[in-house]
Amino acid sequence: MIKIAIDGPSGSGKSTLAKSLAKKLSFTYVDTGALYRTVALYMLKNAVDISDTDAVAAALKSITLGIFHKDGAQHVTLNGEDVGDTIRTTEVTMASSKVSAQPAVRAFLLDTQRNMALTHNIIMDGRDIGTVIFPDAEVKLFLTAGNTSRAERRYLELREKGEDITFEQVLADIETRDNNDRNRKEAPAIPAQDAIFIDNSSFTPEDTLNTALKIIESKLGAL
Ligand code: DC
Repeated sequence: MIKIAIDGPSGSGKSTLAKSLAKKLSFTYVDTGALYRTVALYMLKNAVDISDTDAVAAALKSITLGIFHKDGAQHVTLNGEDVGDTIRTTEVTMASSKVSAQPAVRAFLLDTQRNMALTHNIIMDGRDIGTVIFPDAEVKLFLTAGNTSRAERRYLELREKGEDITFEQVLADIETRDNNDRNRKEAPAIPAQDAIFIDNSSFTPEDTLNTALKIIESKLGAL
């Protein structure tokens, strides 16, 4: 099975690129951030103190996660229930960054991610896909964009969903999350040595897609 890893910070356009690549190449798209978000959702719903690593590790025993795809979109189930968009709120977003720094949480999600590639050609996006989950991925892309561009994209997305948030708050949240994700001890969000960078600050989604397709073709030939 072929594995294409897409890593990069929040708002760098990973999921937009991964979704359109998956469609174009008929691969399965796996959004790993959704898994960390679902773990965070469980902790918030059950009033588990997310700064207490022992409490979080103990609570993981009560979680069964599932992934299924419908019309090309990924759905995550938490103890049998589709979490839908409840994992996309600002509260869950910030909590997901915190729980993702904990080794027990990363170990809990490891097999779910690796097993996806046993049966499908996959495009997987996240923070450690090229470094930890699939160091042997056939193609590794690292997406970047300036902080302001990334915050603008997130801001528009959140406003569209009806969240009452300012641009300044979104920018501050992005910077906090980058800082947490990059500087944690376990699987920090850094590029793999053999990752190919795409800075898409001034790109349209189509530009990013075409750039990625050229890189993939140069690595794998025409698919
Ligand atoms: O990609 P996202 O914004 O949905 O991810 C939510 C959080 O989960 C992010 O702040 C860092 C964490 N994450 C991670 O540590 N490793 C991954 N492979 C994916 C996400």
